[in-house]
Amino acid sequence: MLQVNQVSKIYEGKIAYQALSNIQFTIEDGEFVGIMGPSGSGKTTLLNMIATIDEPTTGEILIHDRNINQLNKNELAKFRRRELGFVFQDFNLLHTLTVEENIVLPLTLDGAKVSEMKSKAAIIAEQLGISAIMNKRTYEISGGQAQRAAIARAMIHAPHLLLADEPTGNLDSKSARDVMELLEKINQEQQTTMMLVTHDPLAASYCQRVIFIRDGKFYSEIHRGEHRQTFFQKIIDTLSLLGGHANDISSIRV
Ligand SMILES: Nc1ncnc2c1ncn2[C@@H]1O[C@H](COP(=O)(O)OP(=O)(O)OP(=O)(O)O)[C@@H](O)[C@H]1O
Ligand SMILES: [Mg+2]
Repeated sequence: MLQVNQVSKIYEGKIAYQALSNIQFTIEDGEFVGIMGPSGSGKTTLLNMIATIDEPTTGEILIHDRNINQLNKNELAKFRRRELGFVFQDFNLLHTLTVEENIVLPLTLDGAKVSEMKSKAAIIAEQLGISAIMNKRTYEISGGQAQRAAIARAMIHAPHLLLADEPTGNLDSKSARDVMELLEKINQEQQTTMMLVTHDPLAASYCQRVIFIRDGKFYSEIHRGEHRQTFFQKIIDTLSLLGGHANDISSIRV
């Protein structure tokens, strides 16, 4: 579904900075893949290029065999709406709107009927366990609920690829676990392909595969297999080999 071919990124500026060098990997339809690496290793840079927020300096990114950097403005807008869903660390909900209004926002932009929006939102809220808070404003709900609302908003279009940057970064460990279990469930039940950037080994242990990058280069890749606990330990071991700053893994939760 996703092919990242020899992608490099140089940020131009007073001093040019090479954030990524020759990154190469593929993600199959329905896979759930984590990206880990020390702070500054290029994870967000990589995610932003796949999200079509930014472009590679060299190399190409294909989604369903289409080079996403060759799409024109119209195609790009359509592609983002139809293929991609986004979840961020800070939820990105609009505070003047209710939870329900936030969730249906992407449909509003598409000009869908109110009744259709409401029924779609109700179905997805039920799946994510947030039906009871649909009429609350975003400042009246917890971080875990806010992230579930953000996931609902990302999923309401049934995207093929869900991209998440530190979705558990602002959550306590219980909420983080709930959010990861939810993403795992969506991945299994709806075959949504997922790519998750995270510092959190617990969050990463819900993925089927984790790709590690260091200094903008591919470092290694490990597969989950059957036991999440064993995978969690393997992730911790790889992170300690990988190095980086101690606070990168300060949020370890078992
Ligand atoms: N717009 C930019 N202009 C110049 N340099 C940038 C820009 N964005 C990121 N960088 C640099 O590129 C490198 C990779 O940044 P990136 O945000 O991808 O790291 P990251 O792995 O997501 O880190 P973190 O874990 O802290 O979020 C960093 O050294 C950063 O300073
Ligand atoms: Mg980042």
